[in-house]
Amino acid sequence: MDNGEELAREAADLFVWFGQQAIRNGGHFRVALSGGSTPKALYAALRGTTFSTQLDWTGVEFYFSDERCVPPDHPESNFRLANEGLFQPLRIGLDRVFRMPGEVGVPDQGASQYEALIRERFAAPPPSWPAFDLILLGMGEDAHTASLFPRTPALEESKRLVVANVAPQGVKARLTLTARGINQARAVVFMVGGKSKAKAVQAVLNDRGKDHSVDDRQFPARLIRPVAGRLIWLLDRAAASELTVAKQGIVSHEE
Ligand code: 6PG
Repeated sequence: MDNGEELAREAADLFVWFGQQAIRNGGHFRVALSGGSTPKALYAALRGTTFSTQLDWTGVEFYFSDERCVPPDHPESNFRLANEGLFQPLRIGLDRVFRMPGEVGVPDQGASQYEALIRERFAAPPPSWPAFDLILLGMGEDAHTASLFPRTPALEESKRLVVANVAPQGVKARLTLTARGINQARAVVFMVGGKSKAKAVQAVLNDRGKDHSVDDRQFPARLIRPVAGRLIWLLDRAAASELTVAKQGIVSHEE
């Protein structure tokens, strides 16, 4: 896609499509929203008449892929961005919004609380794994996704769905879905735009599986390989500009 606006429209189109399918097939749409600033344009697209009228929002349950350990009204809160950009404008009841408790004093307790909430709502006690209908992800210039940062302890987690982790910059204390938890999803959509991400996109998409000199822990987004679900990368032209097989737009990997 040429630019961020088109990227947001494509993401909104996919969001609505996956939502319609999930509500039709199972009566609800359980989606985990990503953090950062990219979702802002997605929320603007979703609350516009083109998309907001295409989905039964009463069937949607909102979760989060990660959160900064701050109160929900903090400028850095991923929940706050979604609340102001989507939940309030669409009058979505907060009884259907399940935010990560970033304000809990001990992050690991917040992570455990959130995992327990998801497992209960999805009726998925261990050893089963809850499967989101859709998980939206962004990616940083260092190829981190959610709050899975290069060479951090969360990357090694194979049993838990939600853990605390540490970011190298900004709000350091984070809560995040683990890669194994994300990979249970029925669909994962990356939404990545801008030239600053092009090198990370290349490292994750072009070299994946080839370049064994540097393991996936250096490029955490490589760890996202849905077990049975769909993996879709939405890229604008700038973010895709270093791809040798430059498929501008949707690069869809049926994994
Ligand atoms: C977060 C995110 C993070 C984000 C990327 C991209 O809480 O920061 O979940 O993984 O998606 O850092 O951020 P931008 O969209 O701001 O580029």
